[in-house]
Amino acid sequence: MLKRTCTCGDSRQENAGETTTLSGWVNTYRDQGKGLVFIDLRDRYGMTQVVFDAEDTSPEVMAEGTTLRREDVVSVTGVLRVRDGKANKKLKTGDIELVAKELEIINRTAKLPILPDDHDADNIGEEHRLRYRYIDLRRPKMQNILALRHKITQFTRNFFADREFLEIETPLLITPTPEGARDFIVPSRHQAGQWYALPQSPQIFKQILMVAGCDKYLQICKCLRDEDPRADRQAEFTQIDLEMSFVEQEDVLEIMSEFATNLYKEVGGIDLGDLPQLSWKDAMDNYGSDRPDIRFDLQLKDVTDLAAKTDFKVFKEACDSGGSVKAMRVPGGAEKLSRKKTDAFAEVAKTYGAGGLPVVKYQGGEFVTGVAKFVEPIKDELVEALGLEDGDIVMFGIGTYRVACISLGEVRLAVAKELDLIPEGMFRGLWVIDFPMFDWNEEAQRWVSEHHPFTAPLASHLDILETDPANCLSSGYDLVINGAEVGGGSIRIHAPEIQSKVFGLLGLSDEETEDKFGFLLNALRFGAPPHGGVAFGLDRLVMMMIGTDNIRDVIAFPKTQTGADLMCEAPGAADEAQLDELGIIMRQPVETTEQA
Ligand code: AMO
Repeated sequence: MLKRTCTCGDSRQENAGETTTLSGWVNTYRDQGKGLVFIDLRDRYGMTQVVFDAEDTSPEVMAEGTTLRREDVVSVTGVLRVRDGKANKKLKTGDIELVAKELEIINRTAKLPILPDDHDADNIGEEHRLRYRYIDLRRPKMQNILALRHKITQFTRNFFADREFLEIETPLLITPTPEGARDFIVPSRHQAGQWYALPQSPQIFKQILMVAGCDKYLQICKCLRDEDPRADRQAEFTQIDLEMSFVEQEDVLEIMSEFATNLYKEVGGIDLGDLPQLSWKDAMDNYGSDRPDIRFDLQLKDVTDLAAKTDFKVFKEACDSGGSVKAMRVPGGAEKLSRKKTDAFAEVAKTYGAGGLPVVKYQGGEFVTGVAKFVEPIKDELVEALGLEDGDIVMFGIGTYRVACISLGEVRLAVAKELDLIPEGMFRGLWVIDFPMFDWNEEAQRWVSEHHPFTAPLASHLDILETDPANCLSSGYDLVINGAEVGGGSIRIHAPEIQSKVFGLLGLSDEETEDKFGFLLNALRFGAPPHGGVAFGLDRLVMMMIGTDNIRDVIAFPKTQTGADLMCEAPGAADEAQLDELGIIMRQPVETTEQA
């Protein structure tokens, strides 16, 4: 094989005259006739133009050169020469070209199902790109994403190694770790009828590493959650997972803020600025979200007391049943937002549990359209409470506290998009703190953890943990950047009796607690230090830095919406013999349907 002497991204004008061997993929092929054939040879590092020039290339090599096609793998030896007056400014190597003297065709490609072309990628169905991922990943854009992901993991390892964190692996075959999703389970052959769960996160193990005296832990690890993928969610994703001993919340937030701001600056060239802290209650009250996008100013106001003074049935019902009425003023919205648009926002509100989205315009000192006649009696108070100005529109979120806030919060995002309120290229982050410990699940008629069951109550709320769980706040925190939750964590419970109480509040019997979490409780009984940590979603960090909404763009081999790997065709059937060994009998053949 002709062995390459440099990469396709290395050569510059000053290398003219050098004999060089390049290896790579034929990116483009142009036969100009008159004894001139050009190919662009591409590898991970760049692209160099190779010319088969009848004046300088032997007839045999010339003939072979004309047989090349896109994506053939070749090595070419030749002499670099300056592209007089024909430099290609788009390429780093654009000042020179390699005049071919020897050609080795290492592998001719079969007829290509897709081309690794950045310009074309959007026109190729994603299903195709995933099935032929090895071709798709050759695209410079995808190579850049893989490189950025690598830089983030490198930066992370260095940052935490410099601060004495130990990188420790935790097992994949475990018992369930509840993070709120379904477990993937794996049958045991040695213990037929028994099952492992794949970790939703290394949560319990990292806590146990603190009990084991490891003090500071880091792992860049796979987490597996059998939940429906979304644009920013995969069943199999990666976390930057951290835990520290003898720390309080402020210690964790301080080091993690330093990590996040330095990472964005050094790897992404992005200035995150300070990361302020906002309580969950303020985030819900003002932005209608526990992951508020603070890049734009629209805010929600509570107008429940005012709404109670009207005869509007929808307001009244919410007020009488202990719910909330929230209002959002959109400056200039009376002109900018047509009826069709506000109807579309109402659909958004409905998706998040609201019955609708009453609106009213404020024009010429009067309320007009929508629910104008209902809010007339509270006109002056509403104008003052919301600081209304002529030409504004007001939208109302109505329902339980959470439904009123969240439905209007989602409308807030839709309005910002519609009115282009989010400045291009801006990054703003914050920590959301003081989450409630629990949320009441109507269906199950029990409390569920707002974070996870190992999250400690705020020290100052410990005394109301059992007496007033609804108002008990936790030491959980989330890092939110541009409205996306990129990380979450908490100070953990390190006292076994408090952990048992929390399991009890979550509806677990003593028996279930012992059965499922006996090993954790035991560990806590044998000398557990106070500890806390966080996990960042690596995929989401990469998504944000490259500016994509699609998590599959940042994962080398992602899964489809139905959890399939189209390239290797997983999941697939298991052999009868394998199932026999595991003692598994299929009740009925399962039909699978697949879509990207
Ligand atoms: P949590 O479940 O909040 O916390 O996850 C931490 C971060 O992981 C990312 N993330 C995901 N990314 C892609 N696809 C998913 N399905 C997905 N789910 C979560 C998010 C999220 O902020 N053990 C705790 C952490 C801790 O308490 O230390 C945990 O896993 O960016």
